Amino acid sequence: MEPFYSVAARRILPATLICISVALTACNSSNSSEPATGTDPDPDLSVSTPAPAADDEPILEDALFNTASGFVVTREPGPRLVVAEEAADLTDADFDLGLPAAVVQVPDGLDTSVNQAPFFANLQNQDVLAGEILEIVYRPEDPDGGLPGMFPEKLPQGGSFVDNFDGSKTFRWQPLQADVGINRFTVTAVDAENGQYRVSQPLLIRVSLPADLTSIPNVAPELDTIEPHYVRVNDPVVIELKGIDLNGSIPSIEAVDLPVGATLTQDPRFEEIYVLKFVPVETGLASVDVIVRDSVDSSLTTEETVSVSVLSADDFEHTGQPLRELAANRNIQIGFAALQSFYHRPDGAIYAHVAAREYDIVTPENSLKMDYINPEPGRYQFAATDNLVAFARQNDMTVHGHPLIWYRQVPDWVLNAEAGSRELHMTDFITRIMSRYQNDISIWDVVNEPMDDNGELRDSVWLESMGESYIATALQSARDVSPQATLLINEFDISMAGPKFDGLMSLVDRLQAQSVPLDGIGFQMHLFSSYDQFDALRQNFAAVADKGLDIYITELDVSLDGDDSLEDQASAYRQIMEICLQQPNCKAVQTWGLTDQYSFRTIYDPLLFDRSYQAKPAYFAVQETLQ
Ligand code: XIL
Repeated sequence: MEPFYSVAARRILPATLICISVALTACNSSNSSEPATGTDPDPDLSVSTPAPAADDEPILEDALFNTASGFVVTREPGPRLVVAEEAADLTDADFDLGLPAAVVQVPDGLDTSVNQAPFFANLQNQDVLAGEILEIVYRPEDPDGGLPGMFPEKLPQGGSFVDNFDGSKTFRWQPLQADVGINRFTVTAVDAENGQYRVSQPLLIRVSLPADLTSIPNVAPELDTIEPHYVRVNDPVVIELKGIDLNGSIPSIEAVDLPVGATLTQDPRFEEIYVLKFVPVETGLASVDVIVRDSVDSSLTTEETVSVSVLSADDFEHTGQPLRELAANRNIQIGFAALQSFYHRPDGAIYAHVAAREYDIVTPENSLKMDYINPEPGRYQFAATDNLVAFARQNDMTVHGHPLIWYRQVPDWVLNAEAGSRELHMTDFITRIMSRYQNDISIWDVVNEPMDDNGELRDSVWLESMGESYIATALQSARDVSPQATLLINEFDISMAGPKFDGLMSLVDRLQAQSVPLDGIGFQMHLFSSYDQFDALRQNFAAVADKGLDIYITELDVSLDGDDSLEDQASAYRQIMEICLQQPNCKAVQTWGLTDQYSFRTIYDPLLFDRSYQAKPAYFAVQETLQ
């Protein structure tokens, strides 16, 4: 434990702090005595980029930081990926352009020559110092008369938007150090006659530091929001607590009264994160009180309670046989997409238990995507995928790799590389990633989402630089690495008749005419419960099978539509399962996620398990169909 802590603290903390807002090359060179792992400071992107190096290899993680049991957890050797959100930041040049244009939403059928849009007169961008109070009165006007309504899109922390009861509202905000920079604030005006006729007016607020920093009030820090979680009694619970201080300093966190055996430790890599770990031994609400303390004025504190709901082991069991046992009898595989690093979530242990009990095939939801696994030329982040592979091996699951080549989640360095070099980066990537996981991952979505809605090839950096041949080249490179792997093209919105499916089938014909290796088609199937194209689905499966290809349902989820019930959702799952079982070439059904808690469509509760890991009617429908 000791060497791990001190190495990480010396090497990683300063680098993370420096790298967050500056360009990476600058960061590397300013830190030249300790270069970022495996990264060439100024790579020539027209040639092959550096292959993974020993420095990219994950290192063992202390069990303190995870909920895993039975498989080893590693972490990245370097800092966690700094997500490029900062890149989208507004600049002084944006500010100087003046008030950004308003966005008008016109409902279908509305005649804008008869009913004109409401607007805000006399608004302008605002310059303000941190610590000053900014007040802006919003008074929407409607050329047709009447009193338009209004609401703010999102209030900044500490801001208010108060009704003056005279047709105006006042936005009031005291920005602090953490707000320095250019902030966007948007208010939407709503037409007096038609509530769907709306005008969203953004305004930019430039916050600068005053000469006298003591003029800025110091406010008490807070704890970042923690979502509710359900856990199983006697399982380890890990909760990452993050202190937030609007003054821009990093608060410390202390426990008031730690339960026996619990620990609260500052994360060695990230100063603002504290890791609380404990094992609840009884059911009910398990709570720990913590104090978040200001780092400048230690008398400024906030006390908060951190809780999880603890259920008994029986609460997580259900009737009937697990899906994987039933599926095996029917000669198909059943699986899910795994939340990245689920073992770092409070409910990681029950997540692993339910996944291992039910499923025999798993896809990493994000950790193989190019922008994550190869974020910079010559830097690779393998830990999340390695951990999932270890979990799969432990539980006798197949791993389905996703995706090798996609138009989204492509790292900036590839987007910015010369078009002529992208083929090399593509084949390098396929070769390196597939070789690394040669013995672990047997099915690959080699090309993801190549078609657009009209059945043409979708615009992408890959199409742009290589034309249609990128698809054949990608598939052939994949086959060169692995003669045995199952190679798929994965696509969405192909569970109905239409130009997109037809376009995909024509692509398959062209590939087959050139003897390009391809073993199957992945049907994503992100559906709504109103979905009723079952005949078309059956026909599309048959068309794929007729070409000698296998069918994988790769990303199934059924979002609840309007007033639809859980039974309606179950019915969609049931019919899809039946269609797969009737088609001999349908090899696997995987849902996109395990529990509604973490679904990428979480607001629509689309999966088989709810937020407390209870099997939903949809689960029992799948179970019955497999029986
Ligand atoms: C989604 C993930 O679920 C999200 O967590 C991520 O933010 C974006 O990507 N089709 C695909 C998947 O092929 O990779 C997408 O996954 C969902 C749509």
